Amino acid sequence: MNPLLPVDGVLPPDLQGTLLRIGPSGAGGADQPGALHAVELRDGTAVSYLTSPSSADANVFWHAGKVLALAETGLPQQFSRLLEPEEFGGGLRVPVASHVRRVAADGSRVLFGVERGTEQAPPYLRIGEWDAAGALTHSRQVDLERATWQHDLAVTERHVVFIESPTTFSEALYGGEVGEPEEDEGRDSVPVPFRWEPGAPGWVGVLARGGAGDQAVRWVRLDPCLVTHVLHAHDDGDSGAVVLDVCRYEVPEAGQPVDLSASVIGPEGIGMNLVAGGLAVLERWRIEGERLERTQLDDRCVEYPTSDPTCAGGPYRYGYTVELARNDDRSVDDEVDHIGLLRFDLARVDVTAWNPGPHRTASEPLFVRAVDGRSDDEGWLLTVVHDAAQGSNDLYVLDASSFGRRGPQAVVHLPAWSSLPFRSHGTWVDAALYR
Ligand SMILES: [Fe+2]
Repeated sequence: MNPLLPVDGVLPPDLQGTLLRIGPSGAGGADQPGALHAVELRDGTAVSYLTSPSSADANVFWHAGKVLALAETGLPQQFSRLLEPEEFGGGLRVPVASHVRRVAADGSRVLFGVERGTEQAPPYLRIGEWDAAGALTHSRQVDLERATWQHDLAVTERHVVFIESPTTFSEALYGGEVGEPEEDEGRDSVPVPFRWEPGAPGWVGVLARGGAGDQAVRWVRLDPCLVTHVLHAHDDGDSGAVVLDVCRYEVPEAGQPVDLSASVIGPEGIGMNLVAGGLAVLERWRIEGERLERTQLDDRCVEYPTSDPTCAGGPYRYGYTVELARNDDRSVDDEVDHIGLLRFDLARVDVTAWNPGPHRTASEPLFVRAVDGRSDDEGWLLTVVHDAAQGSNDLYVLDASSFGRRGPQAVVHLPAWSSLPFRSHGTWVDAALYR
């Protein structure tokens, strides 16, 4: 039996479950590109830290009794709760993108992928839906003018919204022939084989969830921009409007000198490199009919946005993000500074910051509502903090309701050999589900 992990402070006894995180395998010459990590908390103690190599490195989630890991595109990789690889049984035969959006009201998940097309067939977007039991209940296709990089999409109780940017698939970046199977070995590709297409328009597509395959897409024009992640989306009452809060990047304009041979995302991944020379800010988009209204919510730079999963697809008030800044210190290689975390109160557009301290980097904050929590700030934020001076990784538990005003509620010290990356995503699985 493994010894308990050392903890400073007091772990809330209602945090019963497992934090799953995924990311690149990091230094060490692992033969798989990714690694999965699991930290189990039980009865106020940190019971275990497990890690396993993974061929996926972009996202991990829990659905219908399975741990599923995703690369930027491909089939999900399935694992047991002890992180042992299993055969994937989710009824999918086609690749999906790394974000699979859950809707709290019905427990379903919406998955999607962009097919880049062939000489005979145009590119298209495929959108599917798993019900709470894991059955593939809907699948439909939307033809696109060109394959655009779509990393995430917005899902509400009634709508799916996808976002097209001035990007296009690059065969050279993919390193293979279009139409080759994804799993072909020996190609020299980058994780995001899409380049800028300056001057191309921006579009948002709105679909009714669960609609028939031939149902029309409502296309809404958008000033060209790039969205990596959607913080949250919901329907605005009965008005028919959809509200999205998104990480929005500026894009190169037509005529501006840009390297069209380079990937839109740098080699180290989202949040590690500047994108078209800049970083993202949080914007609220309200789509009603054919109109899209944009409001910038704050001027700080953000990434890895999250919200209370129990509000997913419905009304919410609080958002949590990593705060980033452009690093202007030319003596340092890093283009981006990781400053800490932000909490957005979107009812008042009030932003609170938390900084983990010098040499420390906080990764994607994951909210877990307290057992008696009545709102989406009454709970705990889990974030893995890397201390570059100590070379250590710790799991911080922050009280979301006193965010920025108090230090961590508890710090779980992960083993010295643990290697958890800043980038990519994670999820919290309640112990009642994770058996
Ligand atoms: Fe992502």
